Parts: sequence; C-alpha cells; structure tokens
Amino acid sequence: MGNVYVLDHPLIQHKISLLRDKNTDTKEFRELVCEVSMLMGYEVTRNMPLEEIEVETPVGIARTKVISGKKLGFVPILRAGLGMVDGMLRLLPMAKVGHIGLYRDPETHEPVEYYCKLPVDASEREMVVLDPMLATGGSASAAIGFLKDRGVSSIKLMCLVAATEGINRIQTDHPDVDIYCAAVDPVLNEHKYIVPGLGDAGDRLFGTK
Ligand code: PRP
Ligand code: URA
Repeated sequence: MGNVYVLDHPLIQHKISLLRDKNTDTKEFRELVCEVSMLMGYEVTRNMPLEEIEVETPVGIARTKVISGKKLGFVPILRAGLGMVDGMLRLLPMAKVGHIGLYRDPETHEPVEYYCKLPVDASEREMVVLDPMLATGGSASAAIGFLKDRGVSSIKLMCLVAATEGINRIQTDHPDVDIYCAAVDPVLNEHKYIVPGLGDAGDRLFGTK
C-alpha cells in the first residue's frame, strides 16, 4: 500500500488557508499554488538518492554530494495541474514535463482524456503527477494508468487538497504510488466537489468563472 504524506509544514498550512479563502483573487491564487508546490516539492524530493563527488573549492578538495539515480519528470493534469509546474521547476529545472489532458464529465464525473504528451524517455524517469485536487480520484487514477501503460514504473502523486474518497481510490487502483498532499478533507458534495476544499481549482487559477 502506498504511503500518504500530509505535509504539515507551517508555511504550507498557512498558504493552504489563503488558497481556501473564497476572497483570494486569481493573481494571488496562482502565486500561492506556485509557492505551495515549491514548498511541497522540497518534501516530495526528500528521499532522492545522493552520490558523493569531489569538488575543487578555492582552497581545497571537498567530498560532497549531488543528486543521483533516476531523472525526474513532472506530469501536470490539465488544466489545474499546470499551476504547480513552475514551483516544481524552480527546485528542479532539469526535470522534463509531460502533459495529460483530462476533464471530468459534468454528468458522470468520470475523467475524459483529450491530450497526452510525455517525454520520450518517460519510462526511465521517476514521474510526479501534479494536480491540486484529488476528489473522487478518477482523474489521477486514469493519469497514473496512462503513465503505467507507457512503461513508467516509478510514480508519485502530489496534490494540494485530497478527499478521503480520492485517497482510497488511488490506494486501491495504484497501491504502489505514494500520495503527497497538504490537506485531507472528509467529503464530496453532490457535484463531486471537495467540501470544504477550495472550489474549482482550474477556474480559480485561470479566472474562468
Ligand atoms: C479537476 C481537478 C482534477 C479533477 C479532480 O479538474 O483539477 O483533475 O477535477 O477530480 P476527480 O478526483 O474527481 O477526478 P477538472 O475536471 O475540473 O478540469 P480542469 O482542471 O480543466 O478545470
Ligand atoms: N475539481 C476541483 O477543481 N475541485 C474540487 O473540489 C473537485 C474537483
């Protein structure tokens, strides 16, 4: 069973509270999503393997460490996942970015795929799927399934607010995937929105409502 990490760093929690506030406008919302993603990225990458190297400093030789192991890739689920990419790239600018386009059918709430473009060497990378909201878990589960179909074996899921239902879905469908989130909310409403959540993340990021 994958682990669920709820990142409780005070800076993350403070910014999540601002994101939840319905009075936070689009500009501030976008900036906050970027900032929270960067702070969360710090934790998501905590267990990256290191190797020792020698570096010549101005006064001697230092035995020091650099990141080794699998290269990273980020996979935002369109559209709202796009808001998390810049924060992650600030930490790891060499990572490649794939995109998976999914929207939830308003009637069935099932994810519908409309786009998928991954790095050519995706199967050799450790992929972090990015989406602010994990509600029913259908979108994230489908995105992870697409990655596995294309040979990706090392996958993490990073979201901002996760509903218990979504967490259960991922743990059932993809027990090998660790989930990183900043908050866990208890319920979904009749439209499958997370309550209290933060509303429609895509609309709030891009000002479309
Ligand atoms: C939202 C969100 C997730 C999905 C979560 O996207 O960004 O992708 O819903 O819901 P689920 O866990 O029940 O699948 P949405 O379908 O609203 O599309 P958008 O990002 O284009 O607004
Ligand atoms: N998608 C969102 O943007 N918000 C929710 O609460 C659920 C799905």
